[in-house]
Amino acid sequence: MKLYVINGPNLNMLGKREPELYGVKTLLEIENDLVELGADLGHEIKCFQSNIEGEIVSFIQNAGVEGNGIILNAGAYTHTSIAIRDAVLCCSLPVVEVHLSNPHAREVFRRRSLLSDVCRGVIAGFGWRSYCLALTWFADYYDDER
Ligand code: DQA
Repeated sequence: MKLYVINGPNLNMLGKREPELYGVKTLLEIENDLVELGADLGHEIKCFQSNIEGEIVSFIQNAGVEGNGIILNAGAYTHTSIAIRDAVLCCSLPVVEVHLSNPHAREVFRRRSLLSDVCRGVIAGFGWRSYCLALTWFADYYDDER
């Protein structure tokens, strides 16, 4: 299966950005770990990051063409973007929302996600391992279907 990992704004700064909250791994290190874990589980992982809302919308639209699932950390757009919500709604693939931090344990404005109710599930608060947990869910999900 082909699974997409999409990261939104400021996640390209991981490693330097508030490491006490988001950890010390860079995005490239996390992506490399996911590609490796994906290969172990028999899945191809394609990673994409953008700071631009419309680019994320376009990527989600195109992912439906030949992908099998999306792991999405929309960063701050999680809390603001009706456009990304609509792209998720329109996309036929299962989408798992992930966050490194636990937004519910932070500022009030982070407690509202415009994505959670249109995603298959949400994994938050486990640092870079949030992405790995989402990936293992996809592996189980597609194994069950086989
Ligand atoms: C985040 C949480 C968001 O509130 C924040 O804007 C981010 C990162 C996370 O992974 O914990 O950019 O999505």
